[in-house]
Amino acid sequence: MAGIGRFRRNRNTMPAKVAIIVGSKGRGSNMLALIEASQAGDLPAEIVTVIGPSADIPSLQVARENQAPTDVADPTDETYPERLLSVLKERQAEWICLAGYLRLLPAQILQRFPNRILNIHPALLPKFGGPGMYGLRVHEAVLSSGDAETGCTIHLVNERYDEGKIIFQLRCPVLDGDTSESLAARVLKLEHQAYPAALKQLIESHGR
Ligand code: GRF
Repeated sequence: MAGIGRFRRNRNTMPAKVAIIVGSKGRGSNMLALIEASQAGDLPAEIVTVIGPSADIPSLQVARENQAPTDVADPTDETYPERLLSVLKERQAEWICLAGYLRLLPAQILQRFPNRILNIHPALLPKFGGPGMYGLRVHEAVLSSGDAETGCTIHLVNERYDEGKIIFQLRCPVLDGDTSESLAARVLKLEHQAYPAALKQLIESHGR
């Protein structure tokens, strides 16, 4: 059978439609890496929307400045699952990339997008993940472990934090004298390479 039912399209000419979901605290730098890669033609994708919890968060401002469509869906609202589904349907999203989104997704979204939701984590999973492992805490844990290398991980999203199938990793050394801040900065550079590369690999291997 060619194609996957509802996502079937002309794989040679049509970019995959990708929605990015961000949280209130992020800078939007991974989101921007995906937007720039798609606009530069390095990624066979169109960012059809960036979804955030309110219009005034930094990431959505950056998205607008970079000509990406945006939508608001507030995870604290009781109608959030329906609102998110409705936005994703309206924008015809085929893939979802989480970027600085610190929550679990509603079950309806996981069911509607099986194996099509990605997250980026700033360490080499399966180590240094799970509830509460975000921001500098991750890098502090890496430093405490004494590990000689760290990196970033792109993984599929399921109903548990940071536990979905690992699909892509990039590595870098932990250096003498590193602080959690210096490690975070080194890993962030890798993240900006890894997310577009991982998404490209997945889109191309799925034939959309
Ligand atoms: C990144 O470190 C990412 O790995 C994690 O949240 C952070 C978001 O940063 N999931 P940014 O908003 O993309 O700059």
